[in-house]
Amino acid sequence: VIASFQAKVLAGKRVLITAGPTFEAIDPVRGITNLSSGKMGYAIARAAREAGAEVTLISGPTALATPHGVRRTDVQSARQMHDAVMNAVGGQHVFISVAAVADWRVANASAQKMKKQDDGATPSLQFEQNADILASVAATTSVSGWPYCVGFAAESENLVEYGAIKREKKGIPLLVGNIGHQTFGQDDNSIMLFDDQGHTVLPRADKLTLARQLISEIAKRIEQRSL
Ligand code: CTP
Ligand code: CA
Repeated sequence: VIASFQAKVLAGKRVLITAGPTFEAIDPVRGITNLSSGKMGYAIARAAREAGAEVTLISGPTALATPHGVRRTDVQSARQMHDAVMNAVGGQHVFISVAAVADWRVANASAQKMKKQDDGATPSLQFEQNADILASVAATTSVSGWPYCVGFAAESENLVEYGAIKREKKGIPLLVGNIGHQTFGQDDNSIMLFDDQGHTVLPRADKLTLARQLISEIAKRIEQRSL
C-alpha cells in the first residue's frame, strides 16, 4: 500500500474534499453543530496531495492547519458548503464527501440575538432539511462519469447493513463506514469500505495511515474503471 502510494497514484488528478462539521445559525451568536473535528477529511486531503493530486478542500469550522499544497475554502453552514462544492465540482476527477453535514437548518433563525424572557418562556426552533451535497454531486456524474464519488457514513450501530444500504441509496461507487463515537475527535479510527463487491475492513490505525490506504484504494478503482 505504502509503495503504490509513494508512486504518486493520483498524479494529474483533481480531487475535491469536504471536511469538518457545519454550523447552522440559531441567531447571530448561537448555532447548532456536531462533533466532527475535521481530522479524517484533512488527513485525506494531505494524503491525496502527497499522491500527486491537485486538491481542493471545502471545510466547515475546524481548528486544523491546511495541509501543505492544498487549496482550502472555509464555510459555515450546509448551504454554504453546498454552494462552494457546486462551484468547485466542474472538472474534478474525485469527490470525497467527508464532512458531517447538518441534516437540518433552523428555519426560524433570528436576525437579532434572542433575549431571555422575564416569564421564563423558551424559544421553539423549527427545522428545514438541508440539500444532500453528495447526492447532488452523484446525480451529475451520469453524464460524464466524473467525479468518482466517495461517501462517508458514521453510524452508531449495524454498520455492515447500514453501510451497504447507504451506498446504494446515494448511488455512489464507494462508501467508507465507521462507528461515530469511535472516530469523532479521535486520532485513530477503523473503517469499512463498501463497494459493489461487498465490504472490506481497514483495521484500526491512525487517520493519516487510513487516509493513505483509502487514497490507494480510490486510485486503484479509478484505474480499473478507465481500462
Ligand atoms: N452528506 C452530504 N450532504 C448532506 C448530508 C450528508 O453531502 N446534507 C454526505 C456526507 O458527507 C457523507 C454521506 O452524505 O459522505 C452520508 O452522510 P450521513 O449523515 O451518514 O447520511 P445521511 O444520508 O445524511 O443519512 P442519516 O444521517 O439519516 O443516516
Ligand atoms: Ca446525516
